[in-house]
Amino acid sequence: YERQDQRLPKQRLLVVANRLPVSAVRQGKDSWQLEISVGGLVSALLGLKEFDARWIGWAGVNVPDEIGQEALTKALAEKKCIPVFLDEDTVHQYYNGYCNNIIWPLFHYLGLPQEDRLSTTRSFQSQFDAYKKANQMFADVVHEHYEEGDVVWCHDYHLMFLPKCLKEKNSNIKVGWFLHTPFPSSEIHRMLPSRRDLLESVLAADLVGYVIDIFLLKLKEISKNSIDINCIQIPESHASRANVFLFHTYDYARHFVSACTRILGLEGTPEGVENQGKLTRVAAFPIGIDSDRFIRALELPQVQDHIKELKERFAGRKVMLGVDRLDMIKGIPQKILAFEEFLEENPEWRDKVVLLQIAVPTRTDVPEYQKLSSQVHEIVGRINGRFGTLTAVPIHHLDRSLDFHALCALYAVTDVALITSLRDGMNLVSYEFVACQASKKGVLILSEFAGAAQSLGAGALLVNPWNIAEVAASISQALNMPADEREKMHQHNFMHVTTHTSQEWAATFVSELNDTIIEAQLRTRQ
Ligand code: G6P
Repeated sequence: YERQDQRLPKQRLLVVANRLPVSAVRQGKDSWQLEISVGGLVSALLGLKEFDARWIGWAGVNVPDEIGQEALTKALAEKKCIPVFLDEDTVHQYYNGYCNNIIWPLFHYLGLPQEDRLSTTRSFQSQFDAYKKANQMFADVVHEHYEEGDVVWCHDYHLMFLPKCLKEKNSNIKVGWFLHTPFPSSEIHRMLPSRRDLLESVLAADLVGYVIDIFLLKLKEISKNSIDINCIQIPESHASRANVFLFHTYDYARHFVSACTRILGLEGTPEGVENQGKLTRVAAFPIGIDSDRFIRALELPQVQDHIKELKERFAGRKVMLGVDRLDMIKGIPQKILAFEEFLEENPEWRDKVVLLQIAVPTRTDVPEYQKLSSQVHEIVGRINGRFGTLTAVPIHHLDRSLDFHALCALYAVTDVALITSLRDGMNLVSYEFVACQASKKGVLILSEFAGAAQSLGAGALLVNPWNIAEVAASISQALNMPADEREKMHQHNFMHVTTHTSQEWAATFVSELNDTIIEAQLRTRQ
């Protein structure tokens, strides 16, 4: 996307996400301290520079009083952010409940909560009602700030009801919706009691985007031919590379189309889904990071100081790194158990390697996350007790996030990054690691269930995170990998990460959304 005429004003973009890219901490009755918050979505959207973007979202805090709301609104306005104020009960039922205890695990193939089976229908219903109510509150704020011609870009599973709320009030609004998580097989999606409502609402958008569809993109890249998604034919000459991706044929976008076909009885076309003469375009837009930001950070003196400290601290030992939100989809217990198996089978490595696991606390009001935290602590304690000495432990487990510079330094000194998500929309940590590895050229061990496996797969050791023995063997392979092989894998990844950036992703999505609308208008006129 390029603005043809630089004198024209930038296109206004309203980015709507559950969370604003800043977190707010109250300092007094009418003063707030704002900080950039972590997360894949935030890191990707930081790259939006071509548009005049405003952000609409929840500030992550309960602000019941008017004075506080006014002050926060004013402080956020300076950062081009517009808050949606959600009351405590709505947050509990919508965010902790429907979003994070129902949709999130289901979309990551972890099923639906089963403990209160008898009251399931009732609690589902009240949580779904809160979800719709919250989405309507987001829509109200969008309408309040909307100017004709704005593009509204809705993000993620929290806001699947938003396209419908927006279009109901103003059918001219250009609406795109993008999912950052996997969209599961229709067999999984149909377990949701509200399966129809969610699909129908998403279909109100003009363009629906998913993180991966790399299987198709890869083939396109290789063959430079367009491929009919209804009939994927793998050219013989590409069969060996294609094998790696074969079992991912049913990607997120296709799952969505097939859910609409099977659950709503609509027609799926290569472009998307047709509903009463209206076509909703469905496509994949592989997300990336602002790789330059990471690369530039490595030059900063404070990052260089961190790097020096870390090198001294872990001299004589290889550094393995995991950076995850403390979430069940990240497979942290499985990762640590695989590391234990590796230490058990390779005693010569016991005092020569350390695993640094950064586990950023998240969604701490949801019981499943509390349970996970205790489980991880227990396993780490046991392994450190088993293999630690008076002076060193094999696992350093940190229950907090690191600031950006410390994180870059850590990525830069890492020999092996270990990402074992049980399912992950994309996993941008793998991208961040690669961006910081220009001199070290460390190895990436990556779960085949992360979307990134399809883009960085050829430059990583792919593992099934459920197979502890396989992950342990990959750790050994990574630590012993010859330099030329590491270099080759790194080059592949580095090339991908620095060319498929968040800027490009965002620009492509918005320009595709504009095109989709122009095409739809032309079709109507004919
Ligand atoms: C995932 C989701 C994002 C979310 C992030 C952090 O990456 O796709 O939408 O913001 O997790 O989770 P949280 O619940 O803390 O916003």
